[in-house]
Amino acid sequence: MLRVLVCVSGGGTNLQALIDAVEQGSVTDTEIVQVISNNRNAYALQRAAAHGIRGVCVSPKDFPERAAFYDSFLQAVDDAAPDLIVLAGFLVVLPEAMIRKYRNRILNIHPSLIPSFCGAGYYGLKVHEEALKRGVRVTGATVHFVDEGTDTGPIVLQKAVSVMDGDTPAVLQRRVMEEAEWILLPEAVELFAHGKITVKDGRAVVTK
Ligand code: GRF
Repeated sequence: MLRVLVCVSGGGTNLQALIDAVEQGSVTDTEIVQVISNNRNAYALQRAAAHGIRGVCVSPKDFPERAAFYDSFLQAVDDAAPDLIVLAGFLVVLPEAMIRKYRNRILNIHPSLIPSFCGAGYYGLKVHEEALKRGVRVTGATVHFVDEGTDTGPIVLQKAVSVMDGDTPAVLQRRVMEEAEWILLPEAVELFAHGKITVKDGRAVVTK
């Protein structure tokens, strides 16, 4: 049984997609053992509670400096004893000690086709605003392993989504969520749960 810890900051629709996939059986041999949020008001915590999943808040605001927050956050992660950590709309930069300790066991969902529209400052609506500003005809989402960079780790899955005339950032964000994010994240967890993702020479190899 794969033990999955999900880290969230906001609405939690990606968490919900994973919860639903586990409950409906499209993700197997997997248990979401805990949710950690940096934001005590994150609706994602209510989603976890509604499904009997333990949710805790570890907020940087509760610590005098970053190092103390990082220590407490990493301790909370270790206490969950996860096999896999999923960042589902998690807006906190991870401590490097965590990335080293959980190398190629931290998955992130990003709302663009990396390497487009990613890196520092590219999160939430900003990603879609930039895609519309550039005038791309296709965007999408990416699931990747987390490394020390920002959105730079090995790419595991991607899915393209059409940009439509008249799209607003919010309309495009919703389409990317519905048509890509909420499909890719559960698929990546199912693959990971069954040992179908390996990393060789810095690139993810997926055997479906
Ligand atoms: C999603 O667009 C996700 O790709 C990005 O942040 C947003 C979080 O959405 N990382 P939610 O909290 O999962 O609804």
